Amino acid sequence: MESVKQQIEALRSQLNRHNYNYYLLSQPTISDFEFDRLMRQLMDLEAAHPEYHDPNSPSVRVGSDINNNFTQVAHQFPMLSLQNTYSEGEVADFYNRVQRSLHETFDIVCELKFDGTSISLVYEDGRLARAVTRGDGKKGDDVTANVRTIRNIPLVLKGDGIPSYLEVRGEILMPWSSFDALNIERAEQEEPLFANPRNAASGTLKMQDSRVVASRRLESYIYSMLGDSLPSRSHFENMLLAREWGLNVSDSMKKCSTLEEVFAFLKEWDVARKNLPVITDGVVLKVDSLAQQRNLGATSKFPRWSIAYKFNAEQAITRLESVSYQVGRTGAVTPVANLDPVLLSGTTVKRASLYNEDAILALDLHIGDMVYVEKGGEIIPKITAVDKEARFLLGDKVTFTRKCPDCGTPLVRNEDEAIHYCPNNDRCPTQIKGRIEHFVTRKAMDITIGPETINLLYGKELIRDAADLYLLRFDDFAGLERWGETSANNLLESIEKSKSVPYERVLFALGIRFVGETVAQKLAQAFPDIDQLTQATVEQLITVDEIGERIARSVTAYFANPLYSGFVQRLRQQGLQFALSEEALASKTDKLEGLTIVISGTFALHSRDEYKAMILQNGGKNSGSVSKNTDYILAGENMGPAKLEKAGKLGVKIIDEQTFLEMLQ
Ligand code: IVH
Repeated sequence: MESVKQQIEALRSQLNRHNYNYYLLSQPTISDFEFDRLMRQLMDLEAAHPEYHDPNSPSVRVGSDINNNFTQVAHQFPMLSLQNTYSEGEVADFYNRVQRSLHETFDIVCELKFDGTSISLVYEDGRLARAVTRGDGKKGDDVTANVRTIRNIPLVLKGDGIPSYLEVRGEILMPWSSFDALNIERAEQEEPLFANPRNAASGTLKMQDSRVVASRRLESYIYSMLGDSLPSRSHFENMLLAREWGLNVSDSMKKCSTLEEVFAFLKEWDVARKNLPVITDGVVLKVDSLAQQRNLGATSKFPRWSIAYKFNAEQAITRLESVSYQVGRTGAVTPVANLDPVLLSGTTVKRASLYNEDAILALDLHIGDMVYVEKGGEIIPKITAVDKEARFLLGDKVTFTRKCPDCGTPLVRNEDEAIHYCPNNDRCPTQIKGRIEHFVTRKAMDITIGPETINLLYGKELIRDAADLYLLRFDDFAGLERWGETSANNLLESIEKSKSVPYERVLFALGIRFVGETVAQKLAQAFPDIDQLTQATVEQLITVDEIGERIARSVTAYFANPLYSGFVQRLRQQGLQFALSEEALASKTDKLEGLTIVISGTFALHSRDEYKAMILQNGGKNSGSVSKNTDYILAGENMGPAKLEKAGKLGVKIIDEQTFLEMLQ
């Protein structure tokens, strides 16, 4: 009979092998279903036996919210940047410079320059020990917990000859597909969009909750190996070995022995890169021999043995026909440039983003201007400049609209923001319909009704807001064109069914600015019913993980607005869920009544969020900082030294997770 420990180890090594087959070789040998089954088995065993916890278990790929306090770590070797070049002439200059300095033959390795965020990975005895961002080049943030969720970064290397201490560096990227999906989701929630995959990747790496990181499907490409006892004296050979050990090294890498071969590589990839699933903005050239690299040395900023060649951003020139404005469900007004259609990297561009008033003023834009449009890493093309030489007849100067494009209300602009708003939240039809559309989406109330029907019902004055959906009766549909009995019944049924949608999704459905799906979940956990949430102050709200001041202010402003508090009131009367479920509530006790508990450090048995929820569920209070009002500190590993000192001074009792769980028994 296998021991539990052996079972866990066997599952881990099987899953590691399948991950490798899937992500590195693209040759899975089992079905996704079978993979998930093995993973579930492992996770169940791990949950039942926390004593076998291993930070490098393949189950960490799904993420958790522990261990995310980003301590700064010094790099053993500085993380330098590269000199950029933009023409073949500059590349030839580099090549000749290297030749003059070395007086011997040399090879150049050409690699694609992936446009993400750089990372340093340290493997100790073949196991991922640390992942650190570039930071200022000398020290960066320890983002290990988040990086462990990236599926093509092996947690344990495989093969022979792996140095006991190994550092590799590479780029973390967000593939186009994940980026587009993420921005669509953010647009639906009126959260600010990520400008490009690079920002999205670096923003994601710094998130508190690694479960969110796991869901965003980042990828890695490894491009260098460092250390004193490397297996080979050739960079190229080391990269081939890294690939054998399971690290993701791009197939595009090529060793060139002449300048002509280098040029051929640049030419080939300027075209071929457009078919890659990830964004590349150039080619990196590196002298292959590590001995020659050392001879060439580095300046304070750049190595002398490497340069980056940047591809030209794709540009086109076209005429600005007009500027129009769109209003979203929160009232934010965005300007859009309507262009004479033009071909740009394979797609016809008719519209470009103009962002806000300041951006328009900076361009000194006039109707009829010939403008440069560019598609860099951005999804929406942008106008980068105006060709002022091409102005024969000067058209009207573009001035930002003063009125809402829909309801005509004068716009307002907050002092510290670049965005204009239509303040007519309760009457502006586009905003109202936008809020209803958001309310019914699948991830919110999941009511099967499309924008046309919402428009129709709104036009017939059958609904003025989403709460009115619950007042619709069968007869209301009688007079409507193309509405049969079945479709009316289906809609009414779908509305009725939505009354059982759980509290956290109802919170999301309200459409509070900056309260997306994840934030709504966090709020529901911390404030298990709507009364507690309505009464929460900004100070209380920001004690919740991931909730910053911007979100907190938006939440309090929402409930302070009679329009929205009235709306919530009417939804409550209709019987929607405004508290955590029975199930969650059934486990509620008052065992921690009157106790204020601070959580610090990282835990093995439950996540911080789970402990937080347990404190709340048992009547206690969770606070972010130690003060004289603190009763206990629930301390895990690596508790912050400042908290420790303060606790000592104030004589606050420190308990470990075991003791805490016993208190709840
Ligand atoms: S080598 C000293 N190789 O570009 C050499 N960098 O502009 C350091 N990058 O910080 C970097 N692809 O984040 C290298 N194949 C590649 C790369 C690459 C992307 C990034 C990296 C670096 C930046 C420099």
